[in-house]
Amino acid sequence: MERHNGNGNGHGNGHGLGRGAGRRVLITGGAGFVGSHLADELLAHGYRVRALDNLSEQVHGPDIARPAYLSEDVELMRGDVRDAAAVKRALQGVDAVFHFAAAVGVGQSMYEIERYTDVNNRGTAVLLEALTAAPVERLVVASSMSVYGEGLYCDPDGNPVSPPPRSPEQLGRGDWELYSHGRRLRPMPTPEAKPVVPSSVYALSKLDQELMCLMVGQAYGIPTTALRFFNIYGPRQALSNPYTGVLAIFAARYLNRRPPLVFEDGRQRRDFVSVHDVARACRLALETPQAAGQAFNVGSGRSISVLEVAEQMAQALGIEDLPPEITGKYRAGDIRHCYADISLAQQVLGYRPQVTLSDGLEELVDWIVGQNAYDRVEAAAQELARRGLQR
Ligand code: UD1
Repeated sequence: MERHNGNGNGHGNGHGLGRGAGRRVLITGGAGFVGSHLADELLAHGYRVRALDNLSEQVHGPDIARPAYLSEDVELMRGDVRDAAAVKRALQGVDAVFHFAAAVGVGQSMYEIERYTDVNNRGTAVLLEALTAAPVERLVVASSMSVYGEGLYCDPDGNPVSPPPRSPEQLGRGDWELYSHGRRLRPMPTPEAKPVVPSSVYALSKLDQELMCLMVGQAYGIPTTALRFFNIYGPRQALSNPYTGVLAIFAARYLNRRPPLVFEDGRQRRDFVSVHDVARACRLALETPQAAGQAFNVGSGRSISVLEVAEQMAQALGIEDLPPEITGKYRAGDIRHCYADISLAQQVLGYRPQVTLSDGLEELVDWIVGQNAYDRVEAAAQELARRGLQR
């Protein structure tokens, strides 16, 4: 197996896992979008990779087959993270664990409350109990920017503010921005220290996963890191999942020669980060001893409005005659602005995002065209509207 020196910050002992050198890493959810890219990254750096994945139908479709994109060097064990026996088997001979198996739909989590809590919270509990019997050298858990609720803002005097969610009445009036004491707030990059305000069952489950892993990790001497992912995009996104991100939805609209539908006024800002940068951040978390015991934002460190990203995608596609349609509608539970302050990951992990948005968009679009899947994305997006999750 090939060994690289990578571009990390060179910690190779203590509580980091050092470089690959045949160490075996388990990725729960390793057949999924992010997990499979992480598998590629780890394999390229000399690790052996095992994936525990139930190949859930919502993500992988009805075939229950090994996804074609999954590297053949990945040892895939089909099993559920809630199944203690399967988890025990998967942990045999493993040096480190990435816990990525989770149900991931913010809207869906608000009506499949029991399933989300079962898969995400209890699944993590089952894994952690197994780890107490078979400790590993490193544990990294996938968390989400959704734990923040709204991002960080500042008031006109420059004081930081962590506002509560917008009320349904406010949204009903089409008044999209955030206010404090009647004064309009300005969005700022969100650092890890911003108080968490989970506002969906999904976000709550991610916070729970984070805290449970850090807590049990500390109690059992398993150096543990939580990574708060921002809006990840890239090839292998689950296109038939209605909860796939906005970029895949917009790409599908354009490819069907229809304008993207932009909610609110399109000025809401996000941090879109390429899955390749995310995979690198994950490996750095594994290899950096100082990362233990903390949560890190993983984003691109740049923000862009939804309207701007639609326009940038149109440019990437060479489309000039399909301006985005600003609907003035809104999704229940949507936040207005949240984008990452990535300075902690830069300092501690040596994380440097490398994929520009324009390169990343081009890659995403090429992949969706290659999959011939734009109708599926459309149908999946319509599923949300049918369920009344968009107004
Ligand atoms: C949410 C979650 C995040 C999760 C992600 C993908 C929160 C705070 N964040 O992010 O944890 O990883 O979903 O599941 O809950 N939009 C349109 N038109 C569309 C679709 C979306 O304008 O057709 C807008 C949305 O209103 C939103 C933005 O695009 O303002 C991003 O939406 P989306 O990609 O679904 O992700 P988030 O809601 O940011």
